[in-house]
Amino acid sequence: MSQREDSWTARAARLAEQLENDGALHDPLWKEAVAATPRHELVPTFYRQSPEHHEWEPVDTATPEGFDAAYSPTTLVTSLDERDHPLSSSTKPDLVVRMLELLGVREGHRVLAVGTGSGYTTALLAHRLGDRSVYSVDIDPALVEAARGRLARVGCHPTLACRDGAEGLAEHAPYDRILATCSVPRVPWPWADQLVSGGTILVNVMPAAFNAGGLVALHHCGDRLEGRFADQWASFMGMRGAGPTVPGQHRAPDTGNPRTRTTNAPPTPWWDNRVVWLLAQFHGLPDGVTIGMRGEAQTGHPVAATMTAPDGSAAEIALAATNGHHEVTETGPTSLWEPVERAHRTWLTHGKPDWPRLGLTVTEHEQRLWIDHPDSPSHWTL
Ligand SMILES: C[S@@+](CC[C@H](N)C(=O)[O-])C[C@H]1O[C@@H](n2cnc3c(N)ncnc32)[C@H](O)[C@@H]1O
Repeated sequence: MSQREDSWTARAARLAEQLENDGALHDPLWKEAVAATPRHELVPTFYRQSPEHHEWEPVDTATPEGFDAAYSPTTLVTSLDERDHPLSSSTKPDLVVRMLELLGVREGHRVLAVGTGSGYTTALLAHRLGDRSVYSVDIDPALVEAARGRLARVGCHPTLACRDGAEGLAEHAPYDRILATCSVPRVPWPWADQLVSGGTILVNVMPAAFNAGGLVALHHCGDRLEGRFADQWASFMGMRGAGPTVPGQHRAPDTGNPRTRTTNAPPTPWWDNRVVWLLAQFHGLPDGVTIGMRGEAQTGHPVAATMTAPDGSAAEIALAATNGHHEVTETGPTSLWEPVERAHRTWLTHGKPDWPRLGLTVTEHEQRLWIDHPDSPSHWTL
């Protein structure tokens, strides 16, 4: 064995150990798969943003620094578009194994992985299930070809196809499990048609705004897919073709006639209370809202959360609270904060539900978010 092989096997084994110690990995068979997968071969180069200028710079995983990153629980951006927005990444291994465990993959299962990317997730699946049980699609032909070559070099030959993942991969259906590592605003119905009865889909559902959604495990029962959100929150890049993946054009903020009041809702629900942030999408938050932070003029120290909408409406919420209340200032035609407050009230009324109390029912004609039970009166259509 060459020194290099020895070092990657040692590093992959250490990564597997770390994932187990961190509580991300429980199943010895996934531990074995992580220890046997040379992530640096599947990700020969990744892009990292420079701390000063936020410019993306390539990092070769043959360098010591790149090699360290490849065997760490870190997401590695592997492809950028012409505007420098990430198009693909190798999902962080801790999240990949958590998802594989949540999905309940077992020997003998046939699995479709939507979003091949670097091929790392596909390689773990192929290691455990064998090439003939693993299928993966990506919309990007260059990524599919690169993944095919690299997977072959590490001894994996799953079936890969360049396809819009929203269509699934009908010619090899049915699957026992479908895993999507790009987010979707709504669950594509072809997946239900390609899933065995009793099969499971794990997908990141993000209906509209930035980070508003979570991971849902949906089981195929009768004419529907149904299941609950996972405790483990995650956010994936959006499925291309399924809706805007980058914010569209906003009108210049309308700064006239500011309206000021106070609020007891969390000032940054997109980080502090993601259930409220998801519910806000169903309480009147307009599409295309972007969020940010305003820093103090002299120090840059963050002092307020900001929201802007395509129609020029804006809201600013002070991070500091007085007696649990934050000052809110809004301008423009649409209140962006009222939907958040309404969602916060719904959340309080329901006893502050966490993710697993929320669920989704998907039929061919309707997709519905609910709290506690599919027949709950508290439900909203996606
Ligand atoms: C986070 S990356 C996947 C990471 C992958 N699981 C890995 O381990 O490297 C998301 C991938 O989804 C792909 N993707 C985006 N839209 C898609 C679509 N409509 N159909 C199939 N794949 C899509 C992207 O090209 C990207 O490679």
